[in-house]
Amino acid sequence: MRLALAGLVFGAAQILAAAFTAAYGAEALAEASAVERGKYLLHAGGCIGCHTDKATLKAKGPMLGGGRVLKTPFGTFFGPNITPHPEHGIGRWTEAQFRRALRHGRAPSGRHYYPAFPYTSFTRMTDRDIGALWAYIRTMKPVDRPSKRHELAFPYNVRFLLTFWKWMNFRRGALAPDPAKSKQWNRGAYLVTVLGHCGECHTPRNSLGGLKRSLSMSGEADGPAGGAPNITPHKETGIGKWSAEDIVSALKLGMLPDGDFIGGEMTEVVEHGTSKLTDADLNAIATYLAALPPIRSKPKKKKPAGDE
Ligand code: HEC
Ligand code: HEC
Repeated sequence: MRLALAGLVFGAAQILAAAFTAAYGAEALAEASAVERGKYLLHAGGCIGCHTDKATLKAKGPMLGGGRVLKTPFGTFFGPNITPHPEHGIGRWTEAQFRRALRHGRAPSGRHYYPAFPYTSFTRMTDRDIGALWAYIRTMKPVDRPSKRHELAFPYNVRFLLTFWKWMNFRRGALAPDPAKSKQWNRGAYLVTVLGHCGECHTPRNSLGGLKRSLSMSGEADGPAGGAPNITPHKETGIGKWSAEDIVSALKLGMLPDGDFIGGEMTEVVEHGTSKLTDADLNAIATYLAALPPIRSKPKKKKPAGDE
């Protein structure tokens, strides 16, 4: 009886111990994969280009140290340092503050961010993805370099006015999956409208810089990109004649169906963003773009607004 009891206790202890290692092992795995996924998301979200200055990018120096020049019709923005540096980066932030920045467009101090930071798209990022981005950024090399002040003309330099801008142009909230559509389409919708924020360049804007959502992806002549083409499947003015493979090779290799190479600001989107995506994700993007309502629109291409 005693022996049986001892056996039972011992057995229970063993089971507990096994459960313990299993839990720990699983946790360590989840950790590792969150960091790995975060790295992938950093590319999918285009964070690298906007938060690393061009010279550093070219020299393959430490990423996310800021200083990137972003010219817009409202003035010049400088992508801030978002490495885990305690003074110059976000090293003292909590994950909740990071989440709030992406979801609500608000700094830990409560001030509003300019939509040059596309939180207007990122607001719909999943909790899991924000957590993974945070986990990966925490492992990156802190860069000892202060963020630069933006150079904006009046009245755009009055941050307080962003309260009104957000009130008119910013809708918070998650991306609801569409059960009537395929899993691939839904993944594409998330990659295009949330992570890849393709509409921030490819969707026309109103005079206040808000996106005209009804004209989604139909091209924008005046944007910071200095002319992003119509990528709806309209046969004459969009990419309606492209096959899924055409879309995938444009995003993977920067090669257009006519043999030309993608240029302008899209070069960087491809180099540090879409070329790093898996084929499954690129195909999901192609599926989503091909299913967009075709819109007739041919925005006149201007010279790029020029940066650096
Ligand atoms: C199109 C350019 C652009 C992209 C893409 C972009 N950002 Fe930013 N980000 C900015 C700008 C500009 C600011 C500064 C906004 C301001 O000062 O109001 C900013 C601010 C931030 C801040 C706040 C920094 C601070 O010091 O307060 C965080 C955090 C951040 N971005 C994270 C990210 C992450 C993560 C990604 C990728 C998922 C990303 N950003 C993609 C341009 C960009
Ligand atoms: C920073 C602005 C910007 C972002 C973000 C952006 N694009 Fe572009 N895109 C451009 C510009 C500018 C061009 C025109 C490039 C050129 O002149 O060759 C372009 C070209 C393209 C083309 C080629 C169209 C054609 O007719 O030649 C495709 C396809 C495309 N983008 C898809 C996307 C997708 C998908 C995303 C999101 C994952 C995206 N873009 C995000 C600015 C952007």
